[in-house]
Amino acid sequence: MAPTSATINHSNWTDAQKKAVDTIVDRFTVDGETLKKITDQFVVEMNKGLDQEGATVAMIPSFVSGRCTGDEKGSFLALDLGGTNLRVCQVNLLGGGEHTIRQQKYVVSEELKLGPMRNLCDFIADCVDSFLTENGTSSQDALQLGYTFSFPIYQSSINRGVLKQWTKGFNCSGAVGKDVAVMLQDSFRRKNINVNIAAIVNDTVGTLMAYAYRHPNTTMGVIMGTGFNAAYYENMKDVKKWKGDKDQEMVINMECGAFDIERRVLPMTVYDNKLDRESINVYQQYHEKMVAGMYLGEITRNALLDLIDQQLLFGGRSSKELNKNWSFETAYMSTIEVDETPDLSEAAHILESVLNIPSTTLADRQIVKTICHAVGLRAARIAACHIAGVLRKTGKVGEEAIIAIDGSLYEFYPFFEHNMRQSMNEILGEADSAKVKFDLARDGSGLGAAIIAMMAAKK
Ligand code: GLC
Repeated sequence: MAPTSATINHSNWTDAQKKAVDTIVDRFTVDGETLKKITDQFVVEMNKGLDQEGATVAMIPSFVSGRCTGDEKGSFLALDLGGTNLRVCQVNLLGGGEHTIRQQKYVVSEELKLGPMRNLCDFIADCVDSFLTENGTSSQDALQLGYTFSFPIYQSSINRGVLKQWTKGFNCSGAVGKDVAVMLQDSFRRKNINVNIAAIVNDTVGTLMAYAYRHPNTTMGVIMGTGFNAAYYENMKDVKKWKGDKDQEMVINMECGAFDIERRVLPMTVYDNKLDRESINVYQQYHEKMVAGMYLGEITRNALLDLIDQQLLFGGRSSKELNKNWSFETAYMSTIEVDETPDLSEAAHILESVLNIPSTTLADRQIVKTICHAVGLRAARIAACHIAGVLRKTGKVGEEAIIAIDGSLYEFYPFFEHNMRQSMNEILGEADSAKVKFDLARDGSGLGAAIIAMMAAKK
């Protein structure tokens, strides 16, 4: 059973602390009615996105049509850009739902994330080159590569995509409005690396396909990691804006992190507003900013600073470290939330040794734990709305559904799945919610990109 702040003994808190913490917890509390309202609005926005170009929830056709059977075979390269690291993978599809994968991670520096796009592409090409050299992979023919590029791109074919905007921590110049597959292919060409980008794929689409390789009935691919987004199969006859063949189903990259920039239903707090103002993509990705791992620590930090300013936490004293934007990592929240030691010694370690708060009382640590819990709980509850929305939109409520989910938040954040389930029960009712299965699809996007490259090469 997930803990709630009610399980913490508050007797050692002052009345002022109790009142201020209650106010903050209230701000982060999302009741069942609000969840239903968010879900309803989600369906409205999905429809808008399918009807017209340029809608808030972009609903981007991925050019991945047809289901995979698990019998696909072959050897493909895959790249994964957009999470914490760049990954280069060599995937062998063995058929029968089996595969082997060899992969290497490379750190993408802040300088590359914020510099010219050409430098980022050259860096990626160099990583692929060194991966091929280290693994002794060579071929007379061009190696076929699936490029997982986890940002919103408008696709015009399976291996062409123009960047709509950057999200998460990236902001390279000279990329928005350009075809990012062509830019990377240029880098390969300049460096004489014999690799062909056969497909460009969003990580949600890759996750869906990777899971479907073993479980062909997979309904959705979802990422709950650094960022937040989802993909699902749609009948193209229901997509008004689609000018191509209507007689097929295709995976739609929803880009649902952008949901509600109009601020109709998302219950944003002053702490969310502060985060947004100080982010590199102001007035964008509100939904993602309330749900994804990149942001939860910063929301919590903002709430803690509020309590410090009211002289109700750490004796009113912050530290140089805690005053720095993004210094309170979401991983700290996970550690603090599961800390069951009597004196909350894990929390003490993070606050005093990592963040250099000179000293903390037990009440301080309990308050921090309560705020972490409130922010993490809200994220999981709101994250369930888009899944319920997709099931409703596609008429699948009450049917068996498999939701493949990848990402550090889902995998590691304490009680995230439990809290999503609870939220789903409130939105759909327990009987219909029980038909929806959440499954961890770890590192699926590399495998998924390889499968899609294979399907593209076959076509
Ligand atoms: C951001 C990106 C989206 C990606 C998600 C998860 O929302 O815009 O394309 O799928 O992060 O990585």
